[in-house]
Amino acid sequence: LITAVRLRRILDSRGNPTVEADVLTESGGFGRAAAPSGASTGEYEAIELPPSEAIASAREHAVPRLVGEVHAGNQREVDAALHAADGSEDFSEIGANSAVAISMAAAKAGADVLGAPLYQHLGGAFRGDNFPIPLGNVIGGGEHAKDATNIQEFLAAPVGAPSVAEAVFANAEVHAAAADILDERGVPAAKGDEGAWAPAVDDAEAFDIMEEAVERVADDRGFEIKFGLDMAAAELYEDGEYHYGDETKSVDEQIDYVAELVTDYDLAYVEDPLDENDYEAFAELTDRVGDQTLICGDDLFVTNVSRLQEGIDKGAGNSILIKPNQIGTLTDAFDAIELATEHGYKSVVSHRSGETEDTTIAHLAVATDAPFIKTGTVQGERTAKLNELIRIAEDAV
Ligand code: PGA
Ligand code: ZN
Repeated sequence: LITAVRLRRILDSRGNPTVEADVLTESGGFGRAAAPSGASTGEYEAIELPPSEAIASAREHAVPRLVGEVHAGNQREVDAALHAADGSEDFSEIGANSAVAISMAAAKAGADVLGAPLYQHLGGAFRGDNFPIPLGNVIGGGEHAKDATNIQEFLAAPVGAPSVAEAVFANAEVHAAAADILDERGVPAAKGDEGAWAPAVDDAEAFDIMEEAVERVADDRGFEIKFGLDMAAAELYEDGEYHYGDETKSVDEQIDYVAELVTDYDLAYVEDPLDENDYEAFAELTDRVGDQTLICGDDLFVTNVSRLQEGIDKGAGNSILIKPNQIGTLTDAFDAIELATEHGYKSVVSHRSGETEDTTIAHLAVATDAPFIKTGTVQGERTAKLNELIRIAEDAV
């Protein structure tokens, strides 16, 4: 039984306050987790409140429903209590940041009681033995860096890597190769929020650099490395058009553009190529590019089963980004993954641009057999997850 829930403000990787939760249990179990935070947040995400408000509200409404009432190991009960305490559709009362921190901390306390690693507690004995391929952010801009690319993320996708560790190291090498290429071209580059290079180059040059960086590392490593994108197109979309600096594209032009990029660069993955309200355009693009490329909905689906169901019904995308803080609890994230899997949609468990050292998403990806995880490439709050994946892979064989 949960005996205490402690909430506090800690720093995230952008230097902003975020919510951390500790959950303690009667039998001595302990779990601690923190909420991440987005910058290019989707319109339909659960509501993140200012951390002090979220903490005050969760202390008043949620903690009394958990302490002495619910077992930390029973995730569905914990998360149902959070929903009941909140009473809204979108966690606007206690904050999705409080909710997700408590939900994940409870899961860790539940694992601690069992003496099991978190992925084992969440995934159980019938978990598969696949490991997620990490998609690594190498070059980016958009809402994550000023004066850089229009496209938010250029992601290395080491699809031929023989192990998680090899994939993790390959992504770091692509990141380093991109730095070399930028240097060779005399282009200085700062870093964006997720540790990707944020050079002042146009998107076309970023494609060129990515192609070369990936090729150098693939040659060296001897396995296939592709790349992909998070276009975060809702951020580009305004008044019916997609804006790339001074240039604009109509919806049809955007679909053509993305379909051409997929062919020209053999892209493994394209996230949010279209606006978050345009299921129809998503469906048209998905139809055109076929199954070889993942067309992933982040802002489109926001880890929400009803939005995903609408996408399934309309044939929009073939992949879903899973961000627990978009929906507020691990149960909701699990349900989204389950619905996706049932309908052949691939799940990509993901970090946010504002992160902490929390490693829950690494365990969530392994527990649910997610084929991909998006959690950066370098930089401490990103490597926390990647290094945890390496440890889990070693532990789980
Ligand atoms: P965000 O970006 O965390 O700023 O929303 C990540 C993404 O769009 O996938
Ligand atoms: Zn995204």
